Amino acid sequence: MTLSKIIAIDGPVASGKTSVGKLVADSLGFKFFDTGLLYRAVTWAYLHLNLSPEEYSLISKLTDKIFVSFNSPEEVQIFFDNTLVNSYLRTPEIDQQVSFISSIPELRNKLLELQREIAKNGEIVMVGRDIGTVILPDADLKVFLMASSKERASRRYQEFSQLGIDLKIKDIEEMINKRDQNDSERIYAPLKKDSSAYLLETDNLSLENVCNKIITLFHELI
Ligand code: DC
Repeated sequence: MTLSKIIAIDGPVASGKTSVGKLVADSLGFKFFDTGLLYRAVTWAYLHLNLSPEEYSLISKLTDKIFVSFNSPEEVQIFFDNTLVNSYLRTPEIDQQVSFISSIPELRNKLLELQREIAKNGEIVMVGRDIGTVILPDADLKVFLMASSKERASRRYQEFSQLGIDLKIKDIEEMINKRDQNDSERIYAPLKKDSSAYLLETDNLSLENVCNKIITLFHELI
């Protein structure tokens, strides 16, 4: 598979992948795709349909009903069985279940094909946990974003507050650490920095700084 002009950004919860990825994509005129939305959409369906954790094969089949449509290069609509689910995907309930759902190998295999299909024409910034390692190992540039769990909890707190969800920062930090641990320790396609990925620590960098660094790296490489 020859892929062209692809930037893969991975990193733990709230490390800035979405904000950074969108800005990079916008600056380069590329598409942006946040792969976490796929796992969140399946988790939403799993909860909505009241499936039990043992029903692995039914859970994996939920991926067949996911449909992705780009409204614009950066605005994606995610449908489950013809229902537009974007606005349901960033709740604490989904945060709590999504690591379990995303640890199911059959489900990941199905979503792998969909993600490669989305990236096949290149000129895209794709963000997630295993983009540089598994989904798009031939990406032109791979970046691994990192930030302290305190900083990440504070970013997530602001996001939740904007949605009217009232949680304590300490509890958010605990949830974040638990999810990162689950995502890093799963056997299949864990959260991991690819050996060829650039590590960017973002605690003391502005969004624009991180974005500029990535764009500079990209221009040096291609
Ligand atoms: O980036 P996010 O928090 O929206 O992702 C939600 C979950 O989806 C994350 O905890 C793990 C899973 N995920 C994954 O396993 N692989 C990806 N490429 C993207 C997300």
